[in-house]
Amino acid sequence: MDNQSGKIQRAIICLLLLVGGATGLKDVKIKVPDMVRSGDDALLSCNYDLESASLYAIKWYRGDVEFYRYLPKEAPSHTVFPVQGIKVDISKSDNHDVTLVNVSRELTGRYKCEVSADAPSFHTAIKEAPMEVVDVPETNPTIVAERQRLPAGETLRANCTSGPSRPAPVIKWTLNGNHLNNDTMQYKVQSQRVAQYEMEMTRASLELKISSDLFQDGRLQVRCFAEISNVYRDSVELDVTEDAPLLAPITGDASPHSHHSSGCGHPVLSETHRLILVATTMVNVVNILRVSILR
Ligand SMILES: *[C@@H]1O[C@H](CO)[C@@H](O)[C@H](O)[C@H]1NC(C)=O
Ligand SMILES: *[C@@H]1O[C@H](CO)[C@@H](O)[C@H](O)[C@H]1NC(C)=O
Ligand SMILES: *[C@@H]1O[C@H](CO)[C@@H](O)[C@H](O)[C@H]1NC(C)=O
Repeated sequence: MDNQSGKIQRAIICLLLLVGGATGLKDVKIKVPDMVRSGDDALLSCNYDLESASLYAIKWYRGDVEFYRYLPKEAPSHTVFPVQGIKVDISKSDNHDVTLVNVSRELTGRYKCEVSADAPSFHTAIKEAPMEVVDVPETNPTIVAERQRLPAGETLRANCTSGPSRPAPVIKWTLNGNHLNNDTMQYKVQSQRVAQYEMEMTRASLELKISSDLFQDGRLQVRCFAEISNVYRDSVELDVTEDAPLLAPITGDASPHSHHSSGCGHPVLSETHRLILVATTMVNVVNILRVSILR
């Protein structure tokens, strides 16, 4: 066979394949949840357009291991292959879907669906997508602050720690129900993952310069959210109280530190300070009045 006729022959084969392809399989799409909670069911779907052909087989794999096969023209049409950790609900599985029940972390991996058109083309296509099974935290996040009472102008320091999970949650903060906004406040957030046996926790810190306009009726709510994609979300709130702002200049001993040691546990003391402040102001007003009357 000379070179020329070889080329022609190949062109004809390609043409035949193209024509055959027109009545074959196209638009194969796999849909697998990115993340699913362990213990839940997972619905995996495969959609395709067979045009005028009929379906010969649909096969599902985790990695390269086949666990489910559907052959519409055979009886029985479902076959489930034993694979460690995989339980298929046949009543919720068909020529598009396969339903895995009570999934566990070990089922994290890449899933494939393989679709084959019937004779004569037996056109076959494979699509794959990852799925991660999440062990969510069994405990709520916790929040601790260096001080829970502080005046405007000072820096609030708080830490938030999630419960252990796989993978670790992301920690986000809100202030009075709003996201931290770097145009209207000065803050710094940091986050790190901490290994805990086979799990991980996220430990995050917030440093926020407190300005008086952040307080609403003398209070400020800081909330910390621990989230894993759309499968887990839990939060905890911390109430911060505004401390009387003019204390330090009036009572010489009320430096931020000595105030800290007495402030949190003894609101009565701070109330006393406020009374002193009011009394001092009254005396000043009386003095000013006296001066203007004397003139
Ligand atoms: C789900 O699977 C776990 C093991 O992965 C097992 O301990 C549990 O009993 C199962 N739950 C149900 C409802 O089958
Ligand atoms: C927050 O965490 C950091 C580092 O982990 C620690 O140094 C600091 O004391 C913690 N702050 C509070 C209020 O617990
Ligand atoms: C604040 O906003 C600017 C501009 O949007 C951004 O580049 C910067 O990273 C932000 N800083 C923080 C701490 O989020």
